[in-house]
Amino acid sequence: MTSDFVRIVEVGPRDGLQNEKTIVAAADKIALIDRLSDCGLKSVEATSFVSPKWVPQLADAAEVYAGIHKRDGVSYPVLVPNEKGYERAREVGVTEIAVFTAASEAFNQKNINARIDESLKRFEPVIAKAREDGVAVRGYVSTVLGCPYQGDVPLVDVVRVSKALHDMGCYEVSLGDTIGIGTPAKARTMLEAVASDVPMRALAVHFHDTRGQALANILACLEAGVRVVDSAVSGTGGCPYAKGASGNVASEDVVYMLHGMGMHTGIDLDALIATGNWLSGLLGHDTASKVARAAG
Ligand code: HMG
Ligand code: MG
Repeated sequence: MTSDFVRIVEVGPRDGLQNEKTIVAAADKIALIDRLSDCGLKSVEATSFVSPKWVPQLADAAEVYAGIHKRDGVSYPVLVPNEKGYERAREVGVTEIAVFTAASEAFNQKNINARIDESLKRFEPVIAKAREDGVAVRGYVSTVLGCPYQGDVPLVDVVRVSKALHDMGCYEVSLGDTIGIGTPAKARTMLEAVASDVPMRALAVHFHDTRGQALANILACLEAGVRVVDSAVSGTGGCPYAKGASGNVASEDVVYMLHGMGMHTGIDLDALIATGNWLSGLLGHDTASKVARAAG
């Protein structure tokens, strides 16, 4: 029987804040992460140890990671693009990282200045060190349903890159619809194709809501068996190197849908809504969560 528990990976502090014009103070980022773990989230992606020239919004990664209250039983993964990022992360005691690449060459080049195979090669020493250090590694594959530069992305490429990350030692591979271009049947077909080579329990879905398809896509993927969903409180987010990318699906909306379906997340929805509203106040724009708006 498939489980009715869904693990939400909250990516707002990283995917959300990396694409905001406002640079949020480190103290506020820390408060955000602490509030999110207080809501019952078990995975809160905290920040990125990428080049501060590429993503100035997260240049304070070390200060933020060092400052968060690490709750027992909560993981705080951080993005790491290379060995330098890994070293910076370990200096402040990071215990889970996420490496990231894409299924399309054109996007990968713009995002991390490397071809896909080059990026996988770059991750080898990072993952080897992580294994030695007992650090967990998650993997991301971007542009799984389309690329802003290349257009269509062949399924074989999505499957190949996902399998490569899993084979290299990523305990979970998150499939990213970076520009929110997918629709439910395509999302499901993509997930099922990957699940023929990587176990479903090692897969997560990561939908941006650019075209309002994210919840429908998540539902289609839940029906196919996925039980890990990435989302961002108040629907912030986007990749600065993906033309036209906008916010992640709002965590509040995902949790509302799941609880309405009788599924469990361990998350206090009212507290999550309050956190999202606090964040949108900080950012000076309205929340993108419909559930939060309806709650008033
Ligand atoms: P590069 O310019 O090719 O790197 O960037 P380089 O190795 O030639 O180094 C250039 C300079 O950066 C050097 O400094 C390095 O020391 C420094 P300089 O000598 O010029 O003073 N540097 C670093 N500094 C701090 N931390 C580091 C680091 N690495 C190099 N880790 C690089 C290559 C990968 C670094 C760059 O392209 C980069 O940082 N890219 C990150 C872009 C990014 O964060 N994008 C958003 C995240 S991905 C995403 O949002 C998608 C996702 O949500 C899923 C989805 O939605 O699909 C995950
Ligand atoms: Mg993303």
